[in-house]
Amino acid sequence: MDYNKLLQEDCALVEDFLSKCFAKRAKYGQIYEAMQYSLMAGGKRIRPVLTLETCRMCGGDVTAALPFACAVEMVHTYSLIHDDLPCMDDDDLRRGKPTNHKVFGEATAVLAGDALLTAAFEIMCEYADGIEPGRVLAAVDCLSHAAGAAGMIGGQMLDMDGESRTLSLEELELLQSLKTGALIRAAAELGCIVAGGDEATRQAVRQYAQCVGRAFQVRDDMLDVTSSAQVLGKPIGSDAENEKSTFVSALGLERCGQLVDQLTEQAITAFNGLENTEFHIWLARLMAGREY
Ligand code: IPE
Ligand code: IPE
Ligand code: MG
Ligand code: MG
Ligand code: MG
Repeated sequence: MDYNKLLQEDCALVEDFLSKCFAKRAKYGQIYEAMQYSLMAGGKRIRPVLTLETCRMCGGDVTAALPFACAVEMVHTYSLIHDDLPCMDDDDLRRGKPTNHKVFGEATAVLAGDALLTAAFEIMCEYADGIEPGRVLAAVDCLSHAAGAAGMIGGQMLDMDGESRTLSLEELELLQSLKTGALIRAAAELGCIVAGGDEATRQAVRQYAQCVGRAFQVRDDMLDVTSSAQVLGKPIGSDAENEKSTFVSALGLERCGQLVDQLTEQAITAFNGLENTEFHIWLARLMAGREY
C-alpha cells in the first residue's frame, strides 16, 4: 500500500471540499475572503486526514466523513488565526503567508475566526444527509467539547498563564492535552463516530490520538527552536520571545526527541489487536519525524 498516495488523495478531497463549501453563501464584505485566505493557505491537513482514515479504519464511508473532517480543519484554522493575533502570540507568518490580521486587519481576523468556528457546526449539520442522526449529534457533542473551554480554549488559557511563570511538567502536559490534544483526539474520534465504531475501538482511537497529539506538540515546540521560518511557514523563536513554558524549556531538545519517539510507540501500541491500522501507524511515525 502506498500510504503517501493515500495521504495525497485525502488532502485533495479536503482541499476540494474546503474551497467550495461557502460558494452558495451570501457575501457580506470581506468575511469569506478572510476565512478562505487562511483556510486555503495550505496547512498539512493532519486533522481531517485523521478523521477520514479513522472512518475508513472503522469500516465507514470516507466521503460521508468529509464534512466532519473539514469541520475540524475549520475549528483548527480559526484557532490559528486567533493564536496569531497581537493580543496572543503576535505572529506575522502562518502557513507561509502573512497572518490573517496582517492582511485583513485585527477586527476582520477576529470575525473570520468566529465565523470559521460557527461554520464548522453549520457544515456538520448541512451535509449530514444519510448519516444516522444519533451519530451527527455525537459528532457535534465531541467537537464542541474539544473546541471549548474544557478543550482547546482551556489549553490556550493555560498557555497564556504560562507566559508569566514557569510551568511544571504536569502543568505542561495538561496544557498540551487541551491546547493541541483535544482537537487531534476529536478529529480521530469523529471518524469513528461517523463510521459507527464500537466503544472499544473508540477507546483505542482516543488512546492513539492522545499520544500522537502529545508527540505533535512536543515536536512543534522543538521546531520552534530548530527549524527556519522558510521551512516551517511560521516564525521560529516565537515561544522564547513570548517567554512561554514549552516542552523544550522544561526538558531540553534531546529529551524532547526521546519523548516524541516514546509517545509514537505508545500510540502504535494502543492499536494492538485492531485491524486496518497500518496507515495510522505510518502516519504517527511520519509526524514524529516531521520537519514542518
Ligand atoms: C499548528 O498545527 C498548531 C499546533 C497545534 C501545534 P499544525 O502544525 O497542524 O498546522 P498546519 O495546519 O499544518 O498549518
Ligand atoms: C497553538 O499552539 C495551538 C492552538 C490552539 C492554535 P502554538 O502557539 O504553539 O502554535 P503555533 O506554533 O503558533 O502554530
Ligand atoms: Mg500559541
Ligand atoms: Mg502560536
Ligand atoms: Mg508552537
